Amino acid sequence: METTERKKVMLSGIQPSGDLHIGNYLGAIRNWGARSDDYDCYYFMADMHTITVRQNPAELRRRTLAQLAQYIACGLDPARNTLFIQSHVPAHAELGWVLNCYTMFGELSRMTQFKDKSQKNADNINGGLFTYPALMAADILLYQPDYVPVGEDQKQHVELTRDVAVRFNHVYGEVFKVPEPYIPKVGARVMMLSEPERKMSKSDPNGCVFLMEKPEDILRKFKRAVTDSETGRCVYYDPQRKPGVSNLMDIYAAVTGKNYEDIEREFEGRGYGVFKPAVGEAVVEYFRPIREEAARILADKAYLQSVYRAGAEKAAAIAARTLRKVYKKVGFVER
Ligand code: TYM
Repeated sequence: METTERKKVMLSGIQPSGDLHIGNYLGAIRNWGARSDDYDCYYFMADMHTITVRQNPAELRRRTLAQLAQYIACGLDPARNTLFIQSHVPAHAELGWVLNCYTMFGELSRMTQFKDKSQKNADNINGGLFTYPALMAADILLYQPDYVPVGEDQKQHVELTRDVAVRFNHVYGEVFKVPEPYIPKVGARVMMLSEPERKMSKSDPNGCVFLMEKPEDILRKFKRAVTDSETGRCVYYDPQRKPGVSNLMDIYAAVTGKNYEDIEREFEGRGYGVFKPAVGEAVVEYFRPIREEAARILADKAYLQSVYRAGAEKAAAIAARTLRKVYKKVGFVER
């Protein structure tokens, strides 16, 4: 039966600054598709965010389209999810400017991602890198979402978005819906295989597993994963004392649906020499159909174009509504 009630809205994005890795998948994408029946869903390629760090233009274009193909292959059906490229919807930049004027210098200075990235790119600490969270707030608030499904590391940005929305509403009345971050129980912070104390990111390709990687490369990375030297070499969950093993257990749990106790029982009395390749095999099998489907979709450029064009059209219509309201509230003359 048709209902006139507004469906709840979900929105999220990923920067096409590198190829998608299993951290992006387990922390974010996996939770996106699960809700497409009950929610109005918007997922985008955050290409405007990537130029806060210098990019190779041809590579950025390639990765943006590859990311869209992978979104679809991960189960985001374009008929039930609005999939679009951020730079195709000008309202992001427009609201981004307005929100810059409602986001405080002190708040931006406290952002972990800014501190990390300015350390890594000391020769290019540009204004965009600093005001990035105001653009991200615009990405979110334009669509009035209820939930923003992200990994643990983006929680701080979603919280800042909430603060900015509350501040704006306080001055102008209820303009923005104040969104909630939606963070998974397992997989919210996947760690490097090479350095389990650090969050998985593309910065070290040996510790990071990409969705489109060849099975033999995935297996090799898991076989070399750093664990610990505990005698007996037991597989049990203890993120403080056994970060490497616990990270592998998290990954294994996420792709097999098994819980920690099942996993501990499965590998009881067996060494890491059995455990590590088993996790690798499970990951290879889990991502095999996604990898094959993404390669097939990516070959069909006309299809991809039809998806991102339709996505941009739908997104732009919704975004324009919010932007118009904001412009009116702050006192801009209507055209
Ligand atoms: P980005 O592109 O760094 O990461 C995309 C998503 O992947 C999650 N993630 C992880 N989850 C678990 N373990 C990891 N090791 C891991 N690494 C990354 C991130 O938490 C994120 O959910 N600023 C955002 C992109 C963005 C955005 C938005 C997100 C721009 N506008 C609006 C949501 C809504 C970013 O840099 O994510």
